[in-house]
Amino acid sequence: MVNEEKQIFHCFGCGEGGDVFTFLMKVGHLSFLEAVEGLAKRFGVTLPVRESSPGQKREMAKRELLFQINQMASEYFHDLLTRYKEGEEGRKYLLKRGISQEVIFQHRLGYASDHWEGLLRYLQERKAPLELAWELGLISPKKRGIHFTTKEGGGIDSRGWYDAFRGRILFPIFDLHQRVVGFGGRLIREGEPKYLNSHESSIYHKGENLYGLQVAKRWVAEKDCVIIVEGYFDLLTLHQYGLKHSVATLGTALTTHHVRTLKRYTKNFITLFDGDHAGIKASLRCLPLFLEEEIMGKIAILPSGEDPDGFLRKGNLKDLIERIEHATPLLDFFFEDLMNAPDRKSVEGKARMAKEGLAILDKISDKIRRGFYVKHFAERLGISESFFYERLQSSHKSPFNMKEELRSQRGERNFPKSEEMVIRLMIHHPEFIPILSREGILPEFENSCLKKIGEGLEELYQRRGRIDLPEVLTHLDEDLKGRLMEFAFQEGGLEGNDEKILNDCIQKIREERIKREKKELLRKIKEAEEKREDEKLLPLLKERQELAKREKGLQGDLIQKR
Ligand code: UTP
Ligand code: MN
Repeated sequence: MVNEEKQIFHCFGCGEGGDVFTFLMKVGHLSFLEAVEGLAKRFGVTLPVRESSPGQKREMAKRELLFQINQMASEYFHDLLTRYKEGEEGRKYLLKRGISQEVIFQHRLGYASDHWEGLLRYLQERKAPLELAWELGLISPKKRGIHFTTKEGGGIDSRGWYDAFRGRILFPIFDLHQRVVGFGGRLIREGEPKYLNSHESSIYHKGENLYGLQVAKRWVAEKDCVIIVEGYFDLLTLHQYGLKHSVATLGTALTTHHVRTLKRYTKNFITLFDGDHAGIKASLRCLPLFLEEEIMGKIAILPSGEDPDGFLRKGNLKDLIERIEHATPLLDFFFEDLMNAPDRKSVEGKARMAKEGLAILDKISDKIRRGFYVKHFAERLGISESFFYERLQSSHKSPFNMKEELRSQRGERNFPKSEEMVIRLMIHHPEFIPILSREGILPEFENSCLKKIGEGLEELYQRRGRIDLPEVLTHLDEDLKGRLMEFAFQEGGLEGNDEKILNDCIQKIREERIKREKKELLRKIKEAEEKREDEKLLPLLKERQELAKREKGLQGDLIQKR
């Protein structure tokens, strides 16, 4: 639900909520900056720009050129593959591998012939700066070219350049803005290296980009799941067979950056690597990265010797889908794998296993889950649970996890009714805030979460004389935001005599406070009596008298008001 007037939204299903920026970030899977830029554009607001230095400006202009050159190259390779006679061999190769026209088109696949100066001439005709094409790894200087430096700068005495990609199918790699950042190229004949990849540049980082994400992102969001594979062809074949919620790494291991990017679309990750030892090891290496990002992650395992592309081409779509649907939680798989170590029976082996297990257990942030795995692991290893807990606690600095406490409070929805009502009144009738401040009611709150929200509202009102919810949001912890949003959307129950509701709430909160104090006092009195600590008893009894007076006073107030 969106409340235009208050400039906020809240989802009653999942508890998400926030201001317009949060909304766009969640719905459009955007970063904060992207959300701000998009909004500014839409409403014609000029964003203040940090004045960039001449150096920065030059850098920006250069990046723009690099993207343009990659785009030109991508078009050249794609046209060669799809339109020209010279692309015949490339077309034949893809046909042999079963790649469909649709995939060729959607992923903008290309082809580089054996020609040494095909792309080179194309770029020259379009006046592209060749030094930059070199920087992108698209062309190379001929060997006899020698480096030189002059007053104007350095360069290469290019008596010639030649195409770097020859005799290869090309896979353009896109960023999330649909810009070509690099290429992978597979030989269409036997030879080495099988794959030639663009090297890293100022616009291409293998640890940040993922192959196929520009197509996969909407499917990943829709299916609320992402399949991660390791090869270009694996990805293309999966997409061709309808599993479009898949992405591929670029010849390097998965990184935290990758995980964070994917997390914008889903929290359900499945690795689908080669069905060999290396593939399984690579999946297991993802586990700590996943856990650090609070992703549980699953592993789908292929028969030994298969990769996703080969397996699908043999007509195993149904089988593969089943393997994906029944993927094993990586954590379970990790412990299973650990327990099967060949040295599991020796003391040395056990010590190593305990250590490795501990390192992973330590990364499970959810206490209930961690408890479950500790118990399981300890049992199987034949070591007491307390051994693990001692180690785990020593590395978890704060034993009191505010977030978890709030989460459980949220789950039970056990806020004291009158305190909740006061907060809602503060939101919908900020004019009552001075009364509340005068009555000093917030410090009497029992619930620490509501107290915090209340204090935030009070502080803002004192500063601004009004309540601007999006602004309150920016000052609140993530976990309190959702609650605040919920209250903001509940306008019901406040109709009629608001002032009376307010007074009743204040009354009730005070009564409750006294009740709590009384209970505590009685407990202390009882304890003192049992222990026969007369010197303690006397002040406690006095306190009880005071409390009784306060209680009477409260009732008096009430009669007066009624
Ligand atoms: P594979 O050797 O498993 O190749 O490498 P593949 O993907 O199955 O390719 P085909 O089916 O033989 O054509 C997996 C991935 O590792 C990277 C590539 O990203 C490749 O898709 N790789 C492999 C390289 O970067 N360079 C290489 O020389 C080989
Ligand atoms: Mn393969």
